[in-house]
Amino acid sequence: MKYTIQQGKKKHPVLILLHGTGGDETSLLEVGNLIDSDATKIGIRGNVLENGYPRYFKRLTEGVFDEVDLAEQSKQLHETINELIREHSLLDEEIVLVGYSNGANIAIRLLLDYPDSYQKGILFHPMYPVDIKETKSLEQTAIFASFGKADPIVSMSESYRVSDIFSSRKASMTEVWSVSHQLTYEEIESASQWLVKQK
Ligand code: MLT
Repeated sequence: MKYTIQQGKKKHPVLILLHGTGGDETSLLEVGNLIDSDATKIGIRGNVLENGYPRYFKRLTEGVFDEVDLAEQSKQLHETINELIREHSLLDEEIVLVGYSNGANIAIRLLLDYPDSYQKGILFHPMYPVDIKETKSLEQTAIFASFGKADPIVSMSESYRVSDIFSSRKASMTEVWSVSHQLTYEEIESASQWLVKQK
């Protein structure tokens, strides 16, 4: 998978930056900088193209995931992250998944499937309209999520579903609400403050 890395300081987290549909490995670098300017930032480009726009897994239509592809692509993304962590000697650092929209959606899959590898997630405008078979407790997981009250892509009920996925598995869940699907400066600032408090 295509990626870019900006090495940060020791003892600061590694932010894995997962873009929205149509973005690429550089799209969230500035967001990562605002969250923690001393963090190592790794942006990874989604492997799937939809009408020329990169994303992380196929969808059947807007809001309907191709679950077979999601399963395959999330496994591959996990393997890619593992390789990058080893290659760049980041095994001792804390990993934080930072995703926007489609990137947040695949981050949810990683958080559910690999709770030993990923215990912190910053999810901007996620949705996860999937019946989940995984029932592991996520007691060690801490999530920051932002939702929009009038988001044209993620309805309020889909936003509540994401909250419930984590709360019902005993993860710590912090959420903020904005208006639409756009990523706002206030959300990024809240995510940054949240991350500081996690230490
Ligand atoms: C998705 O397919 O992941 C969601 O519809 C979000 C999006 O990428 O627009």
